[in-house]
Amino acid sequence: MLIGTIMRGALVLYYRMRLGKVGRNFRLGLGSTILNPSQVSIGDDVYLGPGTFMTSPTAVVIGDRVMFGPQVMLIGGDHDLSNSEVPLRFAPPPPNPPPIVIEDDAWIGSRVTILKGVRIGRGAVVGAASLVTKDIPPMAIAVGNPCRVLRYRTGVAPAHGSGAPGS
Ligand SMILES: CC(C)(COP(=O)(O)OP(=O)(O)OC[C@H]1O[C@@H](n2cnc3c(N)ncnc32)[C@H](O)[C@@H]1OP(=O)(O)O)[C@@H](O)C(=O)NCCC(=O)NCCS
Repeated sequence: MLIGTIMRGALVLYYRMRLGKVGRNFRLGLGSTILNPSQVSIGDDVYLGPGTFMTSPTAVVIGDRVMFGPQVMLIGGDHDLSNSEVPLRFAPPPPNPPPIVIEDDAWIGSRVTILKGVRIGRGAVVGAASLVTKDIPPMAIAVGNPCRVLRYRTGVAPAHGSGAPGS
């Protein structure tokens, strides 16, 4: 328990020195890895659960009071698929991939994977094990693979064709 607390504190200290920006009261679970941390900006009172993994050749922006369950993955890169002559192993990322943005007060459930260019809106909830390939609107509760809006925390119905049950 004490060892765990010390290890978590050391991990946070390590990333505090490397992240592009990090706010107050940042908490990060054990076993987390943030590649290219200088590209990553984190707001105040953020909690990222154990086993968080981030890799992105471009910016990742995480707002205030964002919460991650365990083993969330932010995968902001791809290999360039346009030249079939180049082995993918050596294919560079496509130029200028869009950033991943997670707005204030979003809650990302355990084992969610978020791909490049996705924006999770303010106060949105992403259900456990979802694969997010497109933006999620503010205050949505979204689930599944691919991730679709189930309903809104405000009680507004999801747009037709959102993939929610009955749409
Ligand atoms: C998204 C979530 C908040 C929704 O909870 P809820 O509002 O109680 O939703 P319900 O359990 O009533 O489920 C509603 C429907 O969505 C489906 N659903 C719920 N969560 C789902 C998920 N993560 N992936 C796919 N479908 C999901 C249910 O099967 C149900 O489908 P149906 O209407 O066809 O039967 C919750 O299911 C969840 O995933 N929470 C995250 C838990 C977590 O990761 N915690 C980490 C610790 S911080």
